[in-house]
Amino acid sequence: MKIIFCTGNKNKFEEVKKIFEEYNVSAKLVRKNVKICEIQSESLKEISRVKAISAFEKLHKPLFVEDAGLFIKALNGFPGVYSSYVFKTIGCKGLLTLLQNEKDRSAYFKAVVTFTDGKILKSFSGICKGSIAKKERGNAGFGFDPIFIPAGYKQTFAENLELKNKLSHRKMAVERLVKFLKNYFKQVK
Ligand code: IMP
Repeated sequence: MKIIFCTGNKNKFEEVKKIFEEYNVSAKLVRKNVKICEIQSESLKEISRVKAISAFEKLHKPLFVEDAGLFIKALNGFPGVYSSYVFKTIGCKGLLTLLQNEKDRSAYFKAVVTFTDGKILKSFSGICKGSIAKKERGNAGFGFDPIFIPAGYKQTFAENLELKNKLSHRKMAVERLVKFLKNYFKQVK
């Protein structure tokens, strides 16, 4: 049995692969970078579900997609669903500038994973609470990892990838997916 993770992001794939290995998922995880039109919506779940349906229309195989964003309290949730564009344009430095005089630096990452086999469409989410560092720290990971400090810790995700892989938003969402898949595979065998 094979399951496709549609993503252009190799870092995300590696993170998800580790979780599949940790949970001994019997299906082989394959990465496919399919060109899919992304809708604009204020809901990560809606974006993720439309993406999964579009990907299935191209591949006709069981697959999942994942969408994530960084939500900063002092910026009323910005960049949120616009995280990808904001990362490409102003990046970590731009967000740090926006938060220059801000005392409340709390933020959270959210990930939504959507699985489909053409019949079932199921979404799983995960959240990691934390705060935005004063400056970029660390070289590991990707995206906003150098400025995100998970709650209860001092290091950024980019300074401690092991920590990220233990408690990230993606870890939580994919753990939920894995629980679902274990039952799903029993039924389709
Ligand atoms: P995507 O559209 O789900 O790929 O994610 C939107 C943007 O959020 C990405 O371009 C990254 O900049 C950022 N992002 C998503 N997940 C993470 C993460 O785990 N760490 C750091 N940044 C992330």
